[in-house]
Amino acid sequence: MNKKIMLLGSGELGRELTISLKRLGCYVVACDRYARAPAMQVADEFRVFDMLDGQLLDQHVKELNPHIIVPEIEAINTDMLMELEEEFVVVPSARAVSLTMNRDRIRDRAYELGLPTARFAYAENLEELLACYERMDCKVVIKPVMSSSGKGQSVVHAGRRQDAAQAWHDAVGNMRGDRAKVIIEEFIEFDDEITLLTIRQKNGHTIFCPVIKHEQVHGDFKNSQQGGFAIGGWEQKAQAMAKLITDDLGGFGLFGVEFFIRNDEVIFSELSPRPHDTGLVTLYTQDLSEFDLHARAMLHIPVASVSLMRSGACCTINAHHAADDYEIMGLDQAEQILSVQVMLFDKPNCYPNRRLGIVFGSSLEVAREGHAKISIQ
Ligand SMILES: Nc1ncnc2c1ncn2[C@@H]1O[C@H](COP(=O)(O)OP(=O)(O)OP(=O)(O)O)[C@@H](O)[C@H]1O
Ligand SMILES: [Mg+2]
Repeated sequence: MNKKIMLLGSGELGRELTISLKRLGCYVVACDRYARAPAMQVADEFRVFDMLDGQLLDQHVKELNPHIIVPEIEAINTDMLMELEEEFVVVPSARAVSLTMNRDRIRDRAYELGLPTARFAYAENLEELLACYERMDCKVVIKPVMSSSGKGQSVVHAGRRQDAAQAWHDAVGNMRGDRAKVIIEEFIEFDDEITLLTIRQKNGHTIFCPVIKHEQVHGDFKNSQQGGFAIGGWEQKAQAMAKLITDDLGGFGLFGVEFFIRNDEVIFSELSPRPHDTGLVTLYTQDLSEFDLHARAMLHIPVASVSLMRSGACCTINAHHAADDYEIMGLDQAEQILSVQVMLFDKPNCYPNRRLGIVFGSSLEVAREGHAKISIQ
């Protein structure tokens, strides 16, 4: 009998994972808060419900009785996932999903494991935040402990108490959940920011994808590249750190481990217990994409190693405006450029900065050239 997979979160990453799972003969049920989400368009079945609602989550899981539950986004009721794990398999594990959903929990774990991180402190009210900020006395990033894609994050220079106070309000106003808590982190002036895709397999053999470099604007990923650039002596250090923390989290699947690189120093930032948005480039570059690898790890199909078929890069297509309907123009012109490929996510509507597609190319320059041909109306 083919495996029934319940996918919690049906965005563009979920869509690619669904395709990878379908290619391995799985039956996929895609779930999300809204209908016609990208993964629902290619899945066998879909369900629309609020996955933060524990009772609803429990009810749908029990009705569907899946072999494997695969969280694809952070906004899921993790307490209920922990309970459900007594009866069902959660990928990579409910603990990994729960720890990584909370910045403070994964940061504390990294600290306990001895991984180098930026200096940090936590605050649960404005006074605490201001006290930490003054004590740290440096440029900082202030982030809600629960949020993603840069929501509620601010960079504040030293000696700007007013800005720090404003950052508290922005963080609390844009956080997920009801825990008013922020992390205040020393701002790292890094040379590079990387994702190390790390695959934890049942056969005990952890494998890594070639390093992905990426650029973020206001905490949201805009481009990434893989291959075609020099990597310093830090790669093995990063791999050892990724192995340490993924072994601690446990379970089987692909993790996106984020690091800052400064000279030869490797500084742990955070991680996703699932395919990473910066890893979309692997659809263009690798023999098995990050989605193919996540699918194989959860199905216990061993992979010996990952090969880079070609170097590549991608740039995201983001909306500028809010609209119930939109059209993406210029694909024909973009794809006339040698090596450029455009991928669209077919999201039902747009709002400022919503990611609607991606442009791949053989290098960052080429991907950017393709991206410049695209417009949204
Ligand atoms: N301490 C720091 N020093 C310098 N830059 C930082 C720091 N913390 C965060 N950033 C920048 O902000 C980006 C987003 O931060 P982070 O990854 O912690 O947030 P996020 O909202 O969880 O993003 P996502 O979950 O989408 O990866 C980072 O990729 C980095 O570019
Ligand atoms: Mg991140």
